[in-house]
Amino acid sequence: MQDYKIAPSILSADFARLGEEVDAVLAAGADIVHFDVMDNHYVPNLTIGPMVCKALRDYGITAPIDVHLMVEPVDALIGQFADAGASFITFHPEASKHIDRSLQLIKDAGCQAGLVLNPAVGLEPVKYVLEQLDMLLLMSVNPGFGGQKFIPYTLDKLREARALIDACGRPVRLEVDGGVTAENIGAIAAAGADTFVAGSAIFGAGDYRAAIAAMREQLAA
Ligand code: DX5
Ligand code: ZN
Repeated sequence: MQDYKIAPSILSADFARLGEEVDAVLAAGADIVHFDVMDNHYVPNLTIGPMVCKALRDYGITAPIDVHLMVEPVDALIGQFADAGASFITFHPEASKHIDRSLQLIKDAGCQAGLVLNPAVGLEPVKYVLEQLDMLLLMSVNPGFGGQKFIPYTLDKLREARALIDACGRPVRLEVDGGVTAENIGAIAAAGADTFVAGSAIFGAGDYRAAIAAMREQLAA
């Protein structure tokens, strides 16, 4: 049985009640808190930073926090997020001048490191740094907004990424982000993903437990 993880994206949560919202999805069966950081520069939207991550830790959230940096440049925020309690820190390679150094900074700060590839960005950089990765995140929408439609051609890249990871033999999590629903999660898992970000499909549902259970049912099928 695969070790599947569900990571609700708090981008679609009610920010006025963020602590309660995160508690609620974790109580409803989520595994990881996906934390979308947008800077209105690398992506055309502006969200949350290290202070909010720290506030969630101070509130008592102990689950892994998966910080998805959609910022440029990357390095100055790594230490701040590590201090704020991030578990994973992932960044987009084109947003860092020195990919290897940024990965090293994340590891040196005591966090798990990952790269994020936009839908039309190839796996090329991953080949060289796979030994340093704890996570590879493939975007299945263009980053910047929740509630977009899953881009089907990303399934081919997922299969390629799965083959690369299996060949390297290290436990690198393969995460997918964007447009994941109970309807398509089975196909996404079949293509090789083991970690699923879902924002609108979970926070947009009235019943978080039912939304997560519907996804797990497809993963078990
Ligand atoms: C998009 C973000 C995603 C997004 C997912 O830039 O990285 O994490 O919030 O939202 P849904 O699941 O609604 O596509
Ligand atoms: Zn994300």
